[in-house]
Amino acid sequence: MTPLIIAVDGPAAAGKGTLARRLAGHFGLPYLDTGLLYRAVGRRVLDGGGDPRDAGVAEAAARGLRAEDLDRSDLRGPPADDAASNVAAHPGVRRALVEFQRGFAAAHGAVLDGRDIGTVIFPDATAKLYVTASPEARARRRWLEVRARDPRADLAEITAEMAARDARDAGRGAAPMKPAFDALELDTTEMDADTAFEVAIAMVAEKLATP
Ligand code: CDP
Repeated sequence: MTPLIIAVDGPAAAGKGTLARRLAGHFGLPYLDTGLLYRAVGRRVLDGGGDPRDAGVAEAAARGLRAEDLDRSDLRGPPADDAASNVAAHPGVRRALVEFQRGFAAAHGAVLDGRDIGTVIFPDATAKLYVTASPEARARRRWLEVRARDPRADLAEITAEMAARDARDAGRGAAPMKPAFDALELDTTEMDADTAFEVAIAMVAEKLATP
């Protein structure tokens, strides 16, 4: 039997992570936040004093990635967001991370969230969700998250940074962020996390029921 794979893609702060983690719990599957891979590569480049836009440096960092790099506590926040999105644009970085992502789901299936899970990593995933929300709702959610760590967090700055990152992620040549042709779109602008979860479960259940 082919393992159950649920792809959850979409732009920044759309609610993918919370949703994907809850879906994994519900379906008894392992969960992988693939954004952490790009974040950890970006961090390695910054640690070495390199420029995340330098393809050679970023590829070397991706090839040297170790499991413990994903446990670092400094993978979130504006500098890490920006470094992740810059290293993620290099085809060589993406190639270096493909096998890890596929291997993660090989034995027991998985829920994976990211930007290209349904288009590149698992084009045959059982169910593909493309989670969105309005730019205003997403920026506000990210601002609330960042503000919990840093009271000086500025909504206008976060809005601008997120828009620039989304434009880079959608505009790159390598695995650009976009819905797979067979993805189910879930707009969470007007939904709380519980409602988004219920709607997502119904979407996945319908896919499972369709031969
Ligand atoms: O949490 P948020 O949605 O803001 O970001 P993330 O999912 O942790 O991803 C951080 C960055 O990694 C994104 O802006 C993308 O550039 C990159 N990424 C990617 O290219 N492909 C993925 N499958 C996951 C993340």
